[in-house]
Amino acid sequence: MPATIVVGTQWGDEGKGRFTDLLAKEMSMVVRYQGGHNAGHTLVVDGETFALQLVPSGVLYHYITPVIGNGVVVDPRVLIAEIDMLTGRGVDCSRLKVSGNAHLIMPYHTELDALHERHLGDAKLGTTKRGIGPAYADKAMRVGLRVQDLADPKIFRQKLEVVLSHTNQVLTRVFDRPPVDGEAIAAQYLDECAPRILPLITDSVGLLHDALEAGQEVLLEGAQATFLDLDHGTYPFVTSSNPVAGGACTGSGIGPRHIDRIVGVAKAYVTRVGSGPFPTELLDDVGDHLVDVGQEYGVNTRRRRRPGWLDAVMVRHAVRVNSLTEIAITKLDVLDGLDSLKVCVAYEIDGELCTNLPYHQSQLHAAVPVYEELPGWNTDLSAVTNPRQLPAAAAEYIEFLESQIGVPIRLVGVGPGREQYLDRNDRLVA
Ligand code: GDP
Ligand code: IMO
Ligand code: MG
Repeated sequence: MPATIVVGTQWGDEGKGRFTDLLAKEMSMVVRYQGGHNAGHTLVVDGETFALQLVPSGVLYHYITPVIGNGVVVDPRVLIAEIDMLTGRGVDCSRLKVSGNAHLIMPYHTELDALHERHLGDAKLGTTKRGIGPAYADKAMRVGLRVQDLADPKIFRQKLEVVLSHTNQVLTRVFDRPPVDGEAIAAQYLDECAPRILPLITDSVGLLHDALEAGQEVLLEGAQATFLDLDHGTYPFVTSSNPVAGGACTGSGIGPRHIDRIVGVAKAYVTRVGSGPFPTELLDDVGDHLVDVGQEYGVNTRRRRRPGWLDAVMVRHAVRVNSLTEIAITKLDVLDGLDSLKVCVAYEIDGELCTNLPYHQSQLHAAVPVYEELPGWNTDLSAVTNPRQLPAAAAEYIEFLESQIGVPIRLVGVGPGREQYLDRNDRLVA
């Protein structure tokens, strides 16, 4: 049976969590395939807000198995805290599974993340300081510890000794910091974390394929987004994993032939947290409106997100690199009350018009957006339940985006609540 991917088309925080939660209704498994607790996915159900970092967004359905795939980096202390938080709020996490092949975020990864950022000074990336980059670096260096190592104290200690023989040199000689104490880490991870994590460890690849073969539907939940992708994003201002749809295959062990629906989530405008190029960035009152009305502050870090107009050049590129079959737009309601709206349809770079994303980073830094201006609307969209009730200007905005992006826009968010969305497939239904 087929699998669906939900992937961000901008710089993250598009509302992937809320649409994953919505689409999960029809699924039996929801899988996180990359990233770690740098993610913050918000679900609003029956007026209750859940901010998830590592636990997949299908967890609220009692019949869904949430799976943390092999491509994720897991800080077991954070995972345990998140499970406890959810359990305390009445969410049953007993079905949660974690791939034994997922890599562990260790305390020294978090420390190194902060030290690297400080070292970069003004050139810092603005990471979430969660240890994501250093954990993936150790994975690529083949000195990482994996979730399955929690099951074998001897191997855990051996691997830790190997990695610390190098990491402690970096900490002491490069950053002038004290060395980390391997025994203290082993005690925390093996004595405190392992008893909680071991029951969750599973052969996630086997589990997912058994489900697919039994005719069940699987949803792959992306974290971060296309333009934070290590290969396809605005390098070096990216994360250290592959959020794009291809990453869903490597990060879960499901091959491409199983995927038949790839939903790209786009905010009706754009936000970005951290440093990096942003052609349509708004440093004016309209930007402040988007931040205030859209409550554009990081779910976990509370950092103010940088706002801008929707960039169709970016979303078109996301359609290409992810093979998107459809787009889901979020936060259309945040545009309520603006007199007019702009959509970037091309860039002017060194006097030339570019409708495709330039591959060269300095060209993106130099890109001047070419805008199409559309009328705004003065209606509160948050109570609209059917696309036919949309004011003409809002319908026109969506149709214009669709014509620019080139794939159907099916779902449109008009509020954060699970039910606050429009299904444009309903347009023709009387
Ligand atoms: P994610 O990381 O892609 O899952 O997105 P975040 O949860 O970080 O950020 C999206 C924010 O927008 C959250 O606060 C959501 O509750 C909120 N949100 C999602 N969809 C909508 C929508 O259609 N309208 C409004 N007003 N808020 C939304
Ligand atoms: P969700 O899944 C928005 C950004 C950071 C920084 C860069 C690298 O909620 O959309 P990292 O800690 O990953 O090394 O930081 O990536 N970033 C995100 N921005 N949403 C996210 O996740 C992000 N995860 C990382 O701000 O610019
Ligand atoms: Mg987020």
